[in-house]
Amino acid sequence: MVTRDPLVDSYGRVHRDLRISVTDRCSLRCTYCMPEDGVPWLPRATMLTTEEVVRIADVAVSMGIEEVRLTGGEPLLRRDLVDVVAGITALEGPAGSPEVSMTTNAIGLAKNAAALHEAGMTRVNVSLDTLRRDVFISLAKRDRLADTLAGVHAAAEAGMVPVKINTVLMRGVNDAPEDVVALLTFALEHGYELRFIEQMPLDAQHGWDRTQMITGEEILGMLRTGYDLAAQPDEARGSAPAELFDVRPLGVGPDAGSPPLGTVGAIASVTMPFCGSCDRVRLTADGMIRNCLFATGETDLRTPMREGASDDELADLLRASIGAKLPGHGINQPDFLQPPRPMSAIGG
Ligand code: 5AD
Ligand code: SF4
Repeated sequence: MVTRDPLVDSYGRVHRDLRISVTDRCSLRCTYCMPEDGVPWLPRATMLTTEEVVRIADVAVSMGIEEVRLTGGEPLLRRDLVDVVAGITALEGPAGSPEVSMTTNAIGLAKNAAALHEAGMTRVNVSLDTLRRDVFISLAKRDRLADTLAGVHAAAEAGMVPVKINTVLMRGVNDAPEDVVALLTFALEHGYELRFIEQMPLDAQHGWDRTQMITGEEILGMLRTGYDLAAQPDEARGSAPAELFDVRPLGVGPDAGSPPLGTVGAIASVTMPFCGSCDRVRLTADGMIRNCLFATGETDLRTPMREGASDDELADLLRASIGAKLPGHGINQPDFLQPPRPMSAIGG
């Protein structure tokens, strides 16, 4: 096992979480991500092979990466996803083998959940923005709600724990308070952990509008029409971006001594940035390191790797990228510039 110095940036943040986008293709067209016609996909020849992905993950794990999250586009569209998972779980670093999870729309997960779990994937985050078929179609432009739901349940049956649900609310689309409360009821009934994420300026169409964004505060207000929420202490949060709340039936009150029905989270990336505790670094499907979702620059690992760079040289490039990481995303500054890549080509 190779051990290298940890990935610490100039603000003292230690990086332990690597997000790998395994493809930029997707089976949906969520409006907060891409236009209905899609975007120009990355050329096949630029996409990393499974061996290349595992090699970069190996270098990162030697530098203290403990958690690897596979993202897309839609990771399930990658045919060799099970091999990617098996290859990464087999790695070992100073912190042991990395925990491997995935962010997915769950379409097709019903077929693959057991094999992925077998290969070492322990948890999943499923993007699910509504339980209403008509709303799903208007938001994701495809009639696939039933496939997503089948995938979520299959993940739980295969033993993935936790099953998290990520929801982005769009004004006038999926923001009816009773529907938002229904999502929480659904999650509580099945034991899934629901997290609402503020919409970020990452859509290919550049349609994000701060004044239209539904804030974390507003989301909590909607949830409180159906349940009592009590904030959990901040220590429970660590470097995790979600502010967590215990959920109880309306009117019981947080001090009534009853156990909560479950928890719900709000990820207020825009109104309450958590950049100060960020421990994430990203690898795109074409082999670029991004030290932030909102970075405007990238570090190319693919070209040097294909030209014969050693693991030590790749490690130096990764370290230099982290060394240049800015303190925050700057969304709230007047000179903020949206990154040239859309979310589908960066990965959550
Ligand atoms: N703002 C916030 N979240 C987004 N996601 C995709 N695009 C955006 C955006 N513009 C979410 C998806 C998925 C995860 C990868 O990020 O819903 O859960
Ligand atoms: Fe696909 Fe995810 Fe983008 Fe939706 S947010 S279009 S599921 S990549």
